[in-house]
Amino acid sequence: MTVLVTGGAGYIGSHAVQRLLRDGERVVALDNEFRGHAKAMQLLSQAHPGKLTYVKADINDRTKVLATMDDHGVHTVMHFAALAYVGESVSQPLNYYHNNVSGLISVLAACDAARVPVQKFVFSSSCATYGQPPANMIPVPETCPQSPVSPYGWTKLHGEHILRDFAAARANAGNPIALTMLRYFNVAGSDHTGLIGEDHTPETHMIPVVLQAALGLRSEVGIFGTDYPTPDGTCIRDYVHVEDLIDAHVLAMAKVKPGTPAAYNVGIGKGYSVREIIDATRKVTDRQFKIVEQPRRPGDPPMLYNDSRKISSELGWKAKFTDLHEIIGTAWRWFQKHPQGYRS
Ligand SMILES: NC(=O)c1ccc[n+]([C@@H]2O[C@H](COP(=O)([O-])OP(=O)(O)OC[C@H]3O[C@@H](n4cnc5c(N)ncnc54)[C@H](O)[C@@H]3O)[C@@H](O)[C@H]2O)c1
Repeated sequence: MTVLVTGGAGYIGSHAVQRLLRDGERVVALDNEFRGHAKAMQLLSQAHPGKLTYVKADINDRTKVLATMDDHGVHTVMHFAALAYVGESVSQPLNYYHNNVSGLISVLAACDAARVPVQKFVFSSSCATYGQPPANMIPVPETCPQSPVSPYGWTKLHGEHILRDFAAARANAGNPIALTMLRYFNVAGSDHTGLIGEDHTPETHMIPVVLQAALGLRSEVGIFGTDYPTPDGTCIRDYVHVEDLIDAHVLAMAKVKPGTPAAYNVGIGKGYSVREIIDATRKVTDRQFKIVEQPRRPGDPPMLYNDSRKISSELGWKAKFTDLHEIIGTAWRWFQKHPQGYRS
């Protein structure tokens, strides 16, 4: 039995591939390399000879996805492949719907058409599906109304609805699928061995951006809004370490039963402000860099962090990394060795 990891050459997908290989699973990674790295696949293949198959393909190529499932006897899909920039989704909504929604439909159609239909599916959803939660819903529980404020968030929410309908149809047909939707908060950090890491172009995530400034690769770091109703005036977010996030996927794969779709938030349950990120990065890296205070960006909620009780009680998930310095430390090790990402 094999696990198919779509988007396996991307940041989170490659960490999933690594973990599954370590756990002794047979893995097929599929990625169109639009934002993924063949180099990550090469490094993981070398570290686990004969255990990883890498297929360069687009998820919208249903024939290829189906052939991959049939060739390898895929039993479980971890679906990471997506375009994932909020800002870009505003200027390219059709690309986002095509890639994230049509792409998901293509993968699900292949799951059904496979000689042995796929039995488990874990979907990368996002806290972006909550949009701007009301103040009385912070920390954010899974019962918070989902009301995205970007096309990206909508692609993930549409994805959840499609998946629920798909799972219901499979259950009605007597072949229920074990479906988990994981709504990630901000994912950060790198694998503890330093083999793979985060390499996004363009980079928009807070921690890598600040680390690039610490390395002198950026002249400054912008703080968007210093007058929020938070203790230091800057936005607060929940940063979950990528290895903890993958733990959640592995637990979902093992524990979620066929028939009843499950949705869990994945975040550590604690928020850190932009200023706290900057201070911690200065401490971890022992470097200084320039900060530029800018006006608020539209659509940025002041505070967003997770209520992690549901995933803890139902799946037994617990974040191992809760200290900001430790999380940033793992990312710093990768960035120091690979200032230009996989090109260096
Ligand atoms: N990084 C975060 O903080 C975060 C937070 C919430 C949700 N997510 C979700 O997690 C998933 C992974 O995010 P990431 O940060 O690793 O992004 P990433 O861009 O590093 O990885 C996505 C991968 O999918 C591949 N891909 C995209 N479209 C494809 C297609 N049509 N066919 C085949 N491959 C395709 C890309 O080439 C890339 O390798 C995404 O679904 C994203 O929406 C990420």
